[in-house]
Amino acid sequence: MTGARDNQTNSRDPHEVSRIGVVLVAAGRGERLGAGKPKAFVELGGRTLVEHCISTVTSLPAGGHLVIVVPEQLADETLREVAGATAPGGNWEISVTPGGRERHESVKFGVDALPEYVDVALVHDAARPLTPATLFERVAAEVRRTGNAVIPALPVVDTLKRVGDDSIVHETVDRAPLVAVQTPQGFPRELLAAAHDRLGTGSLGGAASQPTDDAEVVQRAGGTVRTVPGEALAHKLTSPGDLTLLEALLAATNRDAR
Ligand code: CTP
Ligand code: MG
Repeated sequence: MTGARDNQTNSRDPHEVSRIGVVLVAAGRGERLGAGKPKAFVELGGRTLVEHCISTVTSLPAGGHLVIVVPEQLADETLREVAGATAPGGNWEISVTPGGRERHESVKFGVDALPEYVDVALVHDAARPLTPATLFERVAAEVRRTGNAVIPALPVVDTLKRVGDDSIVHETVDRAPLVAVQTPQGFPRELLAAAHDRLGTGSLGGAASQPTDDAEVVQRAGGTVRTVPGEALAHKLTSPGDLTLLEALLAATNRDAR
């Protein structure tokens, strides 16, 4: 599916330098945000979420290949953004490919578009625009160290209750073994590709059977998944209230950088 949309931003032979591939999934509709356009193309501090993510990924010194998975009708716009967001002569190759109806399909199309030389694949939600480069490096390093799938996780701080349809609380849930997980999620490339091939594409039946992250796809295929510490800055834009929070986080990050 990549063919005509591919845009190699440089002609460096990457084989000897790096083997990281990043799949940036940006093909969702953003229904809960309700911005009238796909969420990844909403602006935060004057740049789209996709542009924020491109800057972060291409700042990783090791270099590699970034596949951006977008709604078909926005592929050309994304190619223009790529040109604006990357420094010429950098050590990242970038391609753009159309996504699918469900997130797991978009990831599969992105993984299929990775070049052969990639051996560590990181899958990242464009909806987490302020995720620091250090988190990408932490996840990739742990994949290399262990050969397992690796996901960023944060402890759950709120008290958790199981609630029925009638709004009645049934019980308090022990939060000690629970974590909230983020992206980027990292995998040996073959493990991720095989797990997505096994899952296939198209609707998987009821909503409960749609995997919401790639670690679950790999677990369903029998893979081991480990955690590393996540980052508050990797917060996901889901609803309008998250935009306010992300704007505050961005302002604080810019202040700290000065
Ligand atoms: N995503 C994708 N392809 C899809 C669905 C989701 O690439 N068919 C991407 C989104 O662009 C986002 C990430 O997966 O970066 C996480 O998904 P989510 O937060 O659910 O985003 P949306 O699906 O866009 O939002 P909503 O569910 O509210 O429509
Ligand atoms: Mg969604």
